[in-house]
Amino acid sequence: MLTRAPLDVASLIAARRPGYTLAAPFYRSKEIFDLDLDVIFARHWIFVGVEPDVPEPGDVMKIDIGLNSILIVRDDDNEVRAFHNVCRHRGARIVTEEHSTVGKLVCPYHQWTYELTGDLVHATHMGDDFDAKCHGLKPVHLRSVSGLLYVCLAAEPPADFDSFAAEMEPRLAPFDLRNAKVVKELDLIEEGNWKLTMENNRECYHCAGNHPELGLSFNKYAVGFVPDADDLEGQAEAAAYAADVERQVQAWEANGFISRPFEELTGRPTGFRTERIVLGGEGESQTMDTKIACKKLMGAITERKLGGLHLWTQPNMWAHFMSDHAVTFTALPLDAEHTLVKTRWLVHKDAVEGVDYDVDHLASVWIATNDQDASLVKLAQCGTRSQAYEPGPYSPLTEGLVDAFATWYVERLSAHMGK
Ligand code: FES
Ligand SMILES: [Fe+2]
Repeated sequence: MLTRAPLDVASLIAARRPGYTLAAPFYRSKEIFDLDLDVIFARHWIFVGVEPDVPEPGDVMKIDIGLNSILIVRDDDNEVRAFHNVCRHRGARIVTEEHSTVGKLVCPYHQWTYELTGDLVHATHMGDDFDAKCHGLKPVHLRSVSGLLYVCLAAEPPADFDSFAAEMEPRLAPFDLRNAKVVKELDLIEEGNWKLTMENNRECYHCAGNHPELGLSFNKYAVGFVPDADDLEGQAEAAAYAADVERQVQAWEANGFISRPFEELTGRPTGFRTERIVLGGEGESQTMDTKIACKKLMGAITERKLGGLHLWTQPNMWAHFMSDHAVTFTALPLDAEHTLVKTRWLVHKDAVEGVDYDVDHLASVWIATNDQDASLVKLAQCGTRSQAYEPGPYSPLTEGLVDAFATWYVERLSAHMGK
């Protein structure tokens, strides 16, 4: 009988060549996928959504991270909480819909009933010795950073989240995300490993050839793209862009909008990067005409031309915050070769559809861009299945931030395996 030797993951990690893509098993193997779910997705802060996903008491959002199903609930005191979506009776899923509104959380199996605080308040026929107080829903660590929701399944979550929150809260405050509303949510399953989804997001080497809609507002020199030394035209474009950035960043910062880059993508569990990016064209928003797509601006913002504040967090998030709307992305691994990318578009909660904004117009750039990215991720995944695949070099001029992602990933696995 043919038997397959177990993967030597430690050797694969040790053999990773800095500046190169990962070996094929990191993108394909079930064993490494399970390791990723444990080491990365069950021990780091995972971006799951935004407070406006559960705007009112009783609103519930279900999100699955690997085999773990999580409930995000707003309780009657307006506190957002997270619990395992696992009944304390015989373990049934309590909530099966992605979004719902409830008075209490009632398990469909035998109707055990939980308060929105997770306390078990009703369980019939359990005998006199049954102690309901010992059977509340199991809580999950939850943090909200100016309305961005992160959960961590570990008993002791990475403590460096505090410094991430401290850096981001003043930057995000003007957008007042807690008083925004989700006007569109879109799920897209990419046919690729979650790391290919993330790698694809961390560079714009592919933008010029693939993203005509995004290219209207997104300058390729914005994040980690440097022209070749002999590309005189590119050098001139990059210099002009840098001068424009210098001018606009100074103006934004003078008005209290923190814009300077901050980047610690590696060397810490909660790696992240942020920067306010100068947008192209009219410079207002990531839209087809590069102007705002929602007349009522976010928070108390009055300046339309605020660029795009971008945020990346390791392992699974990217987002853009503009004067008129925000768009957030959540990557969740489904299996070794499939990844769910959940996109949300948000505007001020008082903006009126048909008066202040049109959803199709608001979302059109990223709907097109997501589809293009999904095609690219699929192509890359196909390549990793071939016997010809071997780790290839990242461009030192345009893919340094992809390398930072892969380096972070290898660091996290190494730290875990070295314990
Ligand atoms: S499994 Fe939930 S009430 Fe029985
Ligand atoms: Fe892309």
